[in-house]
Amino acid sequence: MKAYRLNGHAGAGRLVRADINKPEPASGEVRIRIEAASLNYRDLLILDRAGQGQLDGRVPLCDGAGVVDAVGSDVMPWLVGDRVASAPFCGWVSGPFRTSYIRSALGSDTMDGMLAEYVVLPATALVRVPEHLSSVEAATLPCAAVTAWHGLIARGGMGKGDTVLIQGTGGVALFGLQFAVALGARAIVISSSDEKLARARALGGSILINYRDTPDWDVALMKATDGAGASHILELGGPGTYDRSLRSVASGGKIVQIGVLTGFGPKPDLARLQWENADIIGVTVGSVEHFAAMNGFLTEHAIHPVVDRVFRFDEVPEAYDYLRSGSHFGKVVVTV
Ligand SMILES: NC(=O)c1ccc[n+]([C@@H]2O[C@H](COP(=O)([O-])OP(=O)(O)OC[C@H]3O[C@@H](n4cnc5c(N)ncnc54)[C@H](OP(=O)(O)O)[C@@H]3O)[C@@H](O)[C@H]2O)c1
Repeated sequence: MKAYRLNGHAGAGRLVRADINKPEPASGEVRIRIEAASLNYRDLLILDRAGQGQLDGRVPLCDGAGVVDAVGSDVMPWLVGDRVASAPFCGWVSGPFRTSYIRSALGSDTMDGMLAEYVVLPATALVRVPEHLSSVEAATLPCAAVTAWHGLIARGGMGKGDTVLIQGTGGVALFGLQFAVALGARAIVISSSDEKLARARALGGSILINYRDTPDWDVALMKATDGAGASHILELGGPGTYDRSLRSVASGGKIVQIGVLTGFGPKPDLARLQWENADIIGVTVGSVEHFAAMNGFLTEHAIHPVVDRVFRFDEVPEAYDYLRSGSHFGKVVVTV
């Protein structure tokens, strides 16, 4: 079968096409014929260290959707023909996070990912794809949507009457925006681009701030909310945004700490957190249970993911370059 592999020795060509054996499902496993896969910012970080650790030779990407093609023994409830996707950490089925689940991250150091024609996964890792979504749409869900769901809703309790700060217009951000709008929360979106802000408004964003033109966006946010701030902050930037996020949080609010878009290891001044009685919620993707609950919500609200651009399988390097350019609005997908 066809696949891509990370190659630590290929210089600029860190992604190589490969013909590899079609995997066979063992007991408790399911084989999926992948129809589409999607890219996340983390896949750029992984590509950049393709030669390090155990990444060399790994199949990348944690996001994909497809059709059950073969089942091993003891596989309930899956049948050949079912449309499915996997949680990004295929070992995190339910309950609270455990550090050991990191080893089950698809398309990372320890597990092959979704950029292949067929993938074998534990039956317990799978969720049914919502019927109203195409495979291209469903392939966008595992990492970005489940992370936004886990942080803002499962842990953050976001609901009607809340005010949510969304940073940027990438994958996690737009799912956060769509969830907020569906729940009746007010969404504040910051972006580098007026054109993207106009599109965010069309999706239901109500306060739009260009962070290039208005670097003090926290001041603008406070003004726009009459000094109240945001009850939920989707913190995607890291060191470059964290202090402003802290200055934007409302009394009793929640900073949902997810992203590293400007780097790792923010060293924020946490004093305001205490005075505002606010919380930080640290988030690492989400479980199969989160994914299934989110799919129910997507179905109930007829939410379609925002797919920016779809690339063919032979255009995978271009898809990575496009994501790295930051010109996307929503998700970048590859058909397999
Ligand atoms: N903790 C977890 O489990 C987890 C899970 C998923 C993602 N993440 C992290 O969350 C972040 C977003 O991931 P993604 O896949 O959604 O990324 P993405 O789709 O590549 O989004 C990138 C977008 O972020 C915006 N952005 C960049 N720098 C910004 C800044 N300084 N301030 C505000 N917005 C900025 C830009 O939007 P505009 O052009 O509109 O400005 C850019 O297009 C990444 O750091 C990723 O590693 C973490």
